[in-house]
Amino acid sequence: MSALSRRTKISVVANSMPSTDGDRVHARLTDVTRIYPGSGDKPPFHALGPVSLDLRAGEFFSVVGPSGCGKSTLLDVLAGLNPASGGDVEFEGQTVGREVPDGVAVVFQEDASFPWLNVFDNAAFAARRAGVPENEVRERVDHALSFMGLKAFARAYPAQLSGGMRQRVCIARAMVVRPRLMLLDEPFGALDQQTRLLMGDETLKLWRDTGATVMLITHSIDEAVLLSDRIGVMSACPGRFIATIETGWPRLRDSKIALDARFGELTAQVWGLLRDEALKALGSQS
Ligand SMILES: Nc1ncnc2c1ncn2[C@@H]1O[C@H](COP(=O)(O)OP(=O)(O)OP(=O)(O)O)[C@@H](O)[C@H]1O
Ligand SMILES: [Mg+2]
Repeated sequence: MSALSRRTKISVVANSMPSTDGDRVHARLTDVTRIYPGSGDKPPFHALGPVSLDLRAGEFFSVVGPSGCGKSTLLDVLAGLNPASGGDVEFEGQTVGREVPDGVAVVFQEDASFPWLNVFDNAAFAARRAGVPENEVRERVDHALSFMGLKAFARAYPAQLSGGMRQRVCIARAMVVRPRLMLLDEPFGALDQQTRLLMGDETLKLWRDTGATVMLITHSIDEAVLLSDRIGVMSACPGRFIATIETGWPRLRDSKIALDARFGELTAQVWGLLRDEALKALGSQS
């Protein structure tokens, strides 16, 4: 048996990804669908599902799938930002309604820093809105900015920062609310490869230090393999999970695991699952 098959568990499932016994479920989607309503002569559009997913407490879970397959829709439904058309969404045993549950933070693909606020106030924004006392906010922001290497830029404005630094401001803002679940939608999509690798390492450090559960949406197979405990592979639209892959990486890891022989095997495996779905998605767009 190869090292890969000993340490890597792949389950190919029919739209369902139950957690294994003994793992605490942190968030659960059960038979979730999203059908966007039509308008005028535009018919309703079935964008997602049905999908079922158990996120285990404290895991780093990535989602890969063809462009337009419903990944952002999935994340938004889990965050309470987009209503499911069917099925159940739960976070810590409570049904997710129409707002982001306490304990959940979202980082979006696009730069969501506020240009009129300096770095400190950007990072403080969500915690202040959540009513965290000001002295506590200041302490948390100081820590988050140090952690993200932004302490020297606390009084700078987003326009004075690079794209990577602005994205770090958004991650710091999410971090300051002390989320138990972090939902990251292509947060490094606009960054160059080197910055992207370093940001991935920061995210892994954050994940380890906070013990939060992380769900990352990414277009990058390499990124998914480098960062994750498990990778959910989605079909073409309407997106469903066609497989889940356990990477078997140790918790203490960084981008240097790209040198591990298993890295190449895992990326090949994910691409093997994704290729047909990506072709289907391309075909449906032509
Ligand atoms: N508000 C909406 N109304 C109608 N259709 C929508 C809406 N939002 C998304 N869609 C459609 O639903 C499908 C899934 O969109 P979604 O943004 O979730 O895909 P995605 O996998 O995140 O794509 P990408 O990889 O390009 O970010 C797409 O075909 C998109 O056009
Ligand atoms: Mg998207």
